[in-house]
Amino acid sequence: MTVAPNAPSLSVATAFSAVYGVIEKQRSGCIVVGAMGLRKLSPVAQALDTACGGALIALLKGGDLGVAVGATAVLYRPAGLACERVLLVNVGKASELDARNYRKATQGAMQRLKDTGVTDVVWCLGEAEVKRCTMDWRVEQTVLAYGDAYYRFDQTKSEVTTKESDRSVGLRSFKWQVVGRAQKEVAQKALNRGASIIAGMRLARDLGNLPGNLCTPTTLADTAMYLAESHGLSVEVLERMDLERLGMGSFLSVARGSDEPPKFIVLRYQGADASQRPIVLVGKGITFDAGGISLKPAAEMDEMKYDMCGAASVLGALQAAAELALPLNVVVLIPTCENLPSGRANKPGDIVASMSGQTIEILNTDAEGRLILCDALTYAERFNPACVVDVATLTGACVIALGHVASGVLGNDDALVADLLKAGETAADPCWKLPLFEEYQEQLKSNFADMANIGGRAGGTITAAAFLSRFAKKYRWAHLDIAGTAWKSGKDKGSTGRPVPLLVHFLANQVGR
Ligand code: BES
Ligand code: MN
Ligand code: ZN
Repeated sequence: MTVAPNAPSLSVATAFSAVYGVIEKQRSGCIVVGAMGLRKLSPVAQALDTACGGALIALLKGGDLGVAVGATAVLYRPAGLACERVLLVNVGKASELDARNYRKATQGAMQRLKDTGVTDVVWCLGEAEVKRCTMDWRVEQTVLAYGDAYYRFDQTKSEVTTKESDRSVGLRSFKWQVVGRAQKEVAQKALNRGASIIAGMRLARDLGNLPGNLCTPTTLADTAMYLAESHGLSVEVLERMDLERLGMGSFLSVARGSDEPPKFIVLRYQGADASQRPIVLVGKGITFDAGGISLKPAAEMDEMKYDMCGAASVLGALQAAAELALPLNVVVLIPTCENLPSGRANKPGDIVASMSGQTIEILNTDAEGRLILCDALTYAERFNPACVVDVATLTGACVIALGHVASGVLGNDDALVADLLKAGETAADPCWKLPLFEEYQEQLKSNFADMANIGGRAGGTITAAAFLSRFAKKYRWAHLDIAGTAWKSGKDKGSTGRPVPLLVHFLANQVGR
């Protein structure tokens, strides 16, 4: 088994470029063009059809293209064209071409490309008008669909299996054909952003998919150091002794139940003047959550290796911000440890003192995310942040409330929450707001400490955020609960890389990019 957890794939080897030229003369492995339903070829497809003597129309008439949006048909070595193949995609009726159908068509085309095994592509779906969608949105979504279709995780499979399972490693070159020369620059920018987002997602996905024995707190710290080296960031990893000195009693109480040493990662990207207040991103880094003494049931417990997806996503977002050279300062904070039962683990009823001085009665050791995040939120104060956003697979209740479609968002600043909602919408990585009324705080009352770490079954996602809000009083703060969106279960089990797209859009929007 070849496992390289310290050096996850950090950049995509694919070259993304915007091109403008005569399509019939394009030499490439494959040209991708659209058909609007089963009767109408797009303008580019028509031009190709004319050049190859009506072979594309013949394909339509012959019934080779499926009726569904995203259905595809391939023409091999069409006479009269310089390309090896033409891939025809059904984008559906022009009057129904909206964001959803464009993504469906794109995903279908990407899947077919992958199965075909070509290595260079000219993509001509850019000519279609998509309702309420700008060209740069379409370009970026296409790159994201590429990242999704071609992502594979085989670090932990033996070579034999890997070779059999999949021969497609990715495209060497992806060319986006623009309709007018003037669009080239905009398209190229969107391609670059998309490329950085999928590289960030890939990093997040790789880390998420690695099992708990291979992705430990030390692995996350090594990854942060590797990122710092490769992207010119500054990094500091605080060890147990440092955390003791800082008084992070809440974080340390969780870490104590495990033999793996805890780490507290501080990774900084400086893209603007040092005087500019940074945006602080905090990621929950529980590399395995067994629940502790409040042990989780056995079914699907393996999925708790994904309990560090918040940490992975802020690393991925920071990598993208650095690659895009966004003119802002970002600090990533990652408290990371395991949550296991042991003779030294937290017990229900234990009371710990957080770094803020507030004491916490631990009524359920499985509500450990908030226990490690609260100390990180206090630590964030020293950066005089412009705002703080924490990202965490925090509550099963969030999966019940929002399913696997939207992440939850809550915070103490409506403008910040609105920024995150907007970023999620444009990135097609949505989040949805839940209320954080003062009344919810009552559920956290403890007879013995300043607060309890759980608030009962009612409003579980909200009371978790209410707990965190007590440590985020000194700055603008928002919390993303990604318990339902960070990974998929079942036969498609795997990390999604969310909410890297949302975070990158959020950061870029802060500086008008
Ligand atoms: N990591 C879990 C949250 C989780 C559970 C995410 C299932 C995705 C799927 C978190 O640490 C946890 O265990 N939360 C508890 C809190 C409860 C004890 C108040 C939960 O949601 O059950
Ligand atoms: Mn837990
Ligand atoms: Zn957890």
